[in-house]
Amino acid sequence: MTETSETRPPVIAIDGPSGAGKGSVSRAVAQALSCRYVDTGAMYRAVAWMAGHEGISFDDEPLLTELSERVELRLAGRSVEVEGHDVTSVIRTAEIDSAAARVARVPGVREVLVRRQRAYAATGGLVMEGRDIGTTVFPEADVKIYLDASAEERASRRASDPAHGLGGADAALSDVATALEARDHSDRTRQNSPLTMADDAVLVDTTGVPLDGVIRRVLEIVQTRLGALP
Ligand code: DC
Repeated sequence: MTETSETRPPVIAIDGPSGAGKGSVSRAVAQALSCRYVDTGAMYRAVAWMAGHEGISFDDEPLLTELSERVELRLAGRSVEVEGHDVTSVIRTAEIDSAAARVARVPGVREVLVRRQRAYAATGGLVMEGRDIGTTVFPEADVKIYLDASAEERASRRASDPAHGLGGADAALSDVATALEARDHSDRTRQNSPLTMADDAVLVDTTGVPLDGVIRRVLEIVQTRLGALP
């Protein structure tokens, strides 16, 4: 039997491009609702990191698919473990930014990771952030938010984000903007589940809006959709 929104705990999908604020917003919303937070981008990053570790080519679909299937991943809030190793910060380098975008274009990897993402909903409500959560992973999600911001603002947030190893004087804004644009292009034009807003998602433009204002707005949308906060 397929689960319906009446029989399973609420799923809140938060999608959008890099630097739109998905991570901070999704974590705060999950905390406010006392439910789990799942960062699906971290799963693509972890597979890319492990592929590099094992010397698997980013063009080798069969090996990458097999790796996605067997790799042991543990996501707990922001922290990410691969085969028992804490990779929380090493998967956020510029190198992994582009490796993850390549891995995310591989259909077999997507198929496996989408299946693994769906399995998270079996054990309770969650806030899941990504690029295709409202369109592919959970088309029946109870609430779908699409966070966006101007390209300039997304690049400047990324450049000053210490979690991406880009903080400090050497984070040239123009380099970050160029890399972000290339990744956006790759995410939006891939054949399999390209980044796109679901028809029934609510668009939240975060340009010029402070984080607490965005969190408030998202919680209002959740409350309107679910009737009451769970
Ligand atoms: O959100 P992020 O920057 O950590 O994502 C890393 C890469 O994975 C990025 O290129 C987009 C891709 N991704 C995806 O294709 N689908 C998702 N659900 C999440 C991320």
